[in-house]
Amino acid sequence: MPDPIYLDYAATTPVDAAVLEAMMPYFRENFGNPSSIHRWGRNAEKAIEQSRRDIAAVLDCEPNEIIFTSCGTESDNLGLRGAAVAQREAGRGNHLITTAIEHHAVLHTAVQLRDHYGFDLTILPVDEHGRVRLSDVEAAIRPDTTLISVMYANNEIGTIQPIAEIAAIARARNIITHTDAVQAASQLDANVKRLGADMLALGAHKFYGPKGVGALYVRKGTPMIPAQTGGGHERGRRAGTSNVPYIVGMAAALKLVAERRETDNARYRQLRDKLIAALTQIPDSRLTGHPEYRLPNHSSFVFRGIDGNELLMRLDLEGLAASSGSACKTGDPEPSEVITALGYERDWALGSLRLTVGRPTTEVEVERAVEVVTRVVGGMK
Ligand SMILES: Cc1ncc(COP(=O)(O)O)c(C=O)c1O
Repeated sequence: MPDPIYLDYAATTPVDAAVLEAMMPYFRENFGNPSSIHRWGRNAEKAIEQSRRDIAAVLDCEPNEIIFTSCGTESDNLGLRGAAVAQREAGRGNHLITTAIEHHAVLHTAVQLRDHYGFDLTILPVDEHGRVRLSDVEAAIRPDTTLISVMYANNEIGTIQPIAEIAAIARARNIITHTDAVQAASQLDANVKRLGADMLALGAHKFYGPKGVGALYVRKGTPMIPAQTGGGHERGRRAGTSNVPYIVGMAAALKLVAERRETDNARYRQLRDKLIAALTQIPDSRLTGHPEYRLPNHSSFVFRGIDGNELLMRLDLEGLAASSGSACKTGDPEPSEVITALGYERDWALGSLRLTVGRPTTEVEVERAVEVVTRVVGGMK
């Protein structure tokens, strides 16, 4: 049996060798608690603050606008809950806006804010390619709207949203914008000045950093209460002893991603376009997501009359690791909410497949993946 092929880089990525090397000293030699006064503590703190500066340089913001968290999910939770509650306490309003295609880290947080914290929530629809319409954003805004959360790029269908335009609409009305950039940061420009968002969430394991660490950019002056209380870490916004080696790893990984962006993306596009060209030849198949505004490494499809979970299992038996949308939902027999939001009927929506390429992906792997998917889907008809 040939070597297995991993085409699920949107689910997670391997830690880059240089990133792992940068992390290692902070497990043993420099193991100090950055809150301690002594030299062990100071060494650890120095590493944290250098990492903060490195991440701020990529995002084009001030280092003290970065809050370290435990993952992308926590960053989304902190951004939404922290700002929504603080805005309400400041008497600014009680209405939040998000979209139907957000990752559950945002969508379930927004729904909890509605169902348990008494906020009003508008969930915007998307067009057939998964893009939010600016006219819908404008129409949903009320005098008491305080926060709009729209993801930068979607994990299931790769569609990129017009964040700068949405942020401009929001800013003109004094509304805060949060964007979930957990998928986008591995490939797209995450310059917060150009994007204009007030908050931006990152998770390191999507860009060749370690799992279990994330960051939230919060523009200076954005009201926020902490979601996790305790000590005064992260300037009182996120309590808990800092995960020094992982933070060092995240900063190293983000720097690398920014340096390699152009070359990596050009290669990803070429591989991705091969997958799209070949797999849309399969009868009763469609590309999901936007043909143009999509992540360079991302291809996603629906096959009519196919059970997506069964397809994944069959592909796995053939040595091909793929996904049918968000990894968190694998095993869920209901069609994906994201694919349904695009307007697909159940017999199409159940048969979704996501293939995402990464740094280690080769042409040969892509060619083999095309052969395997075409054969397996054909055999399931
Ligand atoms: C768009 C998006 N947001 C948030 C998350 C959650 O990130 P994490 O796994 O770091 O908690 C993911 C992970 O799948 C994602 O793709």
